[in-house]
Amino acid sequence: MKVLELFAGIGGVAAAKPAQMQIVGAVDASLHVLQTYAKNWSHPTFQQNIEGISPAFLEKLEADCWWLSPPCQPHTVRGNQHDVDDPRSASFLRSLELISALKPTAIGFENVEGFKGSRAHELLLECLAPDYTWHETILCPSEFGVPNRRPRFLLAAHRGFEPKIQAGDAVKTPLKDYLLPPTPELYLTEHVHEKFGQSMHVVDADDPDALTAVFTSAYTKTWMFAGSFLREADSRLRAFSPHEILGLLDFPANFDLSGLGRRQAYKYIGQSLSVPTTRAVLEALISDRS
Ligand SMILES: C[S@@+](CC[C@H](N)C(=O)[O-])C[C@H]1O[C@@H](n2cnc3c(N)ncnc32)[C@H](O)[C@@H]1O
Repeated sequence: MKVLELFAGIGGVAAAKPAQMQIVGAVDASLHVLQTYAKNWSHPTFQQNIEGISPAFLEKLEADCWWLSPPCQPHTVRGNQHDVDDPRSASFLRSLELISALKPTAIGFENVEGFKGSRAHELLLECLAPDYTWHETILCPSEFGVPNRRPRFLLAAHRGFEPKIQAGDAVKTPLKDYLLPPTPELYLTEHVHEKFGQSMHVVDADDPDALTAVFTSAYTKTWMFAGSFLREADSRLRAFSPHEILGLLDFPANFDLSGLGRRQAYKYIGQSLSVPTTRAVLEALISDRS
């Protein structure tokens, strides 16, 4: 099955892809994010604004399956919740026109939990109704044994059969297994500690039940509600490194972030996908899973 990764970012779909799938292209408006994509994945990348992308361009790629993870800001709890009136929904709305025009065999879709029940959600289902059957759900990597919360709205749609997204098994891997040797800049300064220490979400390195919070694009730019911090055995507090967060998303350990500053890396990782939940959607779209 040939997959087109729309809103590709750093390649969550490339990381999650089951063996039966082949990625024929990765489209994103940001050249910078695609540079990181291209360092890690060999699939062709296309810097294109989806608002203006032509059906002819997409048709030429001959993908059976389109993956879409459009901007989530119009639906986040801390965002403006302007839904389809947010200008950042324009590429999502254009995607619906393209689906109606080209009708790819299969569609995978991801967004934040707040997408569910939105006008955008309603429009997506209206767009799919004439040609597809689908399964939608909210899944969190913690349901796959990963000590990280990242609940996401997920949808698998197919023209030939009714897909079923399966929840994972819950064998838990402890947080300590995801920790890497820290570098000095990860430790919090006295100032940050004093000012925000009480309100941060803190997890203990040796707590077997530790569950980290969602790591967002704003991690360490804002100190609250953007992800967890780690209390080490000697009580020192530090941030998780970009590679530790990538590990919690289940990206490959050797993922190349070279050329990115730490904040930029947090930004791109924060807007990416959790591999187990994404794979669950992709697997639901494979007709013969034997
Ligand atoms: C929620 S992130 C998806 C990240 C991606 N799935 C990943 O695994 O990293 C949204 C992505 O859409 C891109 N994007 C936003 N608006 C776009 C547009 N109009 N056209 C194409 N890409 C866009 C952003 O640059 C960002 O990489």
